[in-house]
Amino acid sequence: MNPVLEVSKLSMNFGGLKAIENICLEIFQNEIVSLIGHNGAGKTTFFNCITGIYKPVSGDVFISPFPQKTEKERINGLKPNIITKKGMARTFQNIRLFQNITVLENVMIGRHVRTHAGIIASVLKLKKTRREEREIVEESFKILEKTGIEKFADEKASNLPYGAQRKLEIARALMARPRLLLLDEPSLGLAPIMVKQMFEIIKKINEENSTTVFLVEQNANLALKASSRGYVMENGKIIFSGPSKELIKNKKIKSAYLGL
Ligand SMILES: Nc1ncnc2c1ncn2[C@@H]1O[C@H](COP(=O)(O)OP(=O)(O)O)[C@@H](O)[C@H]1O
Ligand SMILES: [Mg+2]
Repeated sequence: MNPVLEVSKLSMNFGGLKAIENICLEIFQNEIVSLIGHNGAGKTTFFNCITGIYKPVSGDVFISPFPQKTEKERINGLKPNIITKKGMARTFQNIRLFQNITVLENVMIGRHVRTHAGIIASVLKLKKTRREEREIVEESFKILEKTGIEKFADEKASNLPYGAQRKLEIARALMARPRLLLLDEPSLGLAPIMVKQMFEIIKKINEENSTTVFLVEQNANLALKASSRGYVMENGKIIFSGPSKELIKNKKIKSAYLGL
């Protein structure tokens, strides 16, 4: 079976700075894989390159949008919303929510990449649109429950505690029904108990929805524990990769990333 995501020799520069260089990696169906590295290593830049936000200077990104099909699809150069439609959704390290609308509405927006009823139809409130809208609301509530923030459904996003905002980012990404979910620092800035909850939610999403998860984390300890494989990025390059169990035992990784 093709990998869900295949990245080949991907590089990106900012002026003279080689932010990422020659990155090759593969993510397979149903895995949780983590990409760990210190601040400034190039992790977010890498996510931005594979999700169409930045145009990499060289390299290729392929996804296999349909598990049953054998062809992979090259997605470099495609717009972020098209890439989301093809099954790869993401969250952002710097939370990107619509602050002035409700939590429920923020989640519903995540579904728009997949709805068939167009804008005109929704304005005219055609029957099909109303039915579709009802289904979207139901699905949104299920996802709000899954991410543990259903009690905030009618609150304005701006009123949410910080940890709930991070969960809302995940809820919105899930509404696109991704085959591959990319999470950029989901535990960033959270109190220890919330960090634990966050990793539980990630595991639940992976198990219950068979969603493949690719996780960027500075919290290397917990990320490697939650994932089956990991990649370590330093100065824009992958310096180690392998099963998490082996990475956790590696001397250099222990001292540089796990604080042991
Ligand atoms: N838009 C940008 N313009 C210029 N330099 C950038 C930009 N984004 C990131 N960088 C630089 O690229 C390097 C990698 O940053 P980033 O991908 O954010 O790292 P990480 O997510 O691992 O903390 C850093 O040196 C950062 O300053
Ligand atoms: Mg980052």
